[in-house]
Amino acid sequence: MKPFDDNAEQYRFWNELAGPLWVANQDEMDRLTGPFGEAALANAAPRPGERVLDVGCGCGSTTLALARAVGATGAVLGADMSAVMLQRAAEQVASADVGNVTLQQKDAQHDALGTHEFDLVFSRFGVMFFADPFAAFANLASALRPAGRVVFTCWQGPGANPWMSLPERAAMAYFELEPPAPGGPGPFSLADPDHITSVLERAGFRDIAIEPAVRELSLSGAGDLHGWAEHRLVMGSTRKHYLESSPEQQLQARSKLIEAVAEHHGPEGLRLPGAAWVVSALR
Ligand SMILES: C[S@@+](CC[C@H](N)C(=O)[O-])C[C@H]1O[C@@H](n2cnc3c(N)ncnc32)[C@H](O)[C@@H]1O
Repeated sequence: MKPFDDNAEQYRFWNELAGPLWVANQDEMDRLTGPFGEAALANAAPRPGERVLDVGCGCGSTTLALARAVGATGAVLGADMSAVMLQRAAEQVASADVGNVTLQQKDAQHDALGTHEFDLVFSRFGVMFFADPFAAFANLASALRPAGRVVFTCWQGPGANPWMSLPERAAMAYFELEPPAPGGPGPFSLADPDHITSVLERAGFRDIAIEPAVRELSLSGAGDLHGWAEHRLVMGSTRKHYLESSPEQQLQARSKLIEAVAEHHGPEGLRLPGAAWVVSALR
């Protein structure tokens, strides 16, 4: 797949940096995001026979959960930009006993996803990375049948998510960088409920509901803070600086992150709150 210009940076990120890291840590990522995905799945309540689009399906764990819920008479399309994550999704599907999943490498903002084909468009944290969210959600709306529903999770703002913002702030300070301009694609791009509402309304959705889901996240075992810090540094906006640093600087950067969360680290490891929105709407 050749990336579209406006999403090319995210394409590279999810194919070359975050994607391989996500695949290597898939169980851990599923453990962290699972409770939020389950809240969204409960809200979406997929029924036997339904056709579902899983947007930004990544390694396919929610795609499989959806496939089991809709059963043999239903079908699920998992669409994602990341070839490496789709490869893992294909492995998961192959080893599960389901015959109703299709996986496709797509840019969900630009590529055709079908016209009025789906009863449900679902996503666990896969809809915050579009250069143009208005165009992307209009594209998702056109893939839904009339009165079809969209249900997704996205992160609330940095203040409600110290598990991301504390290490990010420490990394920015270490590399002496200014915070990135707000509003671009990234984990917090749909943090503001007013923005979510305007994106969905402009795409033609109605009956919009935005519910909080807050969980305490257990981020590492007691001894594995360097692995945790490395993960945050590669997933965060200092990734380029971190990856281009010397091994000594990388060690110092990881140590700064570990210092920044020291008060949240106890005998049971590192624990911090995470807060998402579960968003639903009808076409
Ligand atoms: C935070 S991950 C979530 C993955 C998966 N939904 C999960 O919960 O494990 C975000 C996913 O969105 C995908 N993504 C980002 N921008 C995309 C786009 N424009 N079109 C399709 N997928 C995209 C990424 O490749 C990645 O797999």
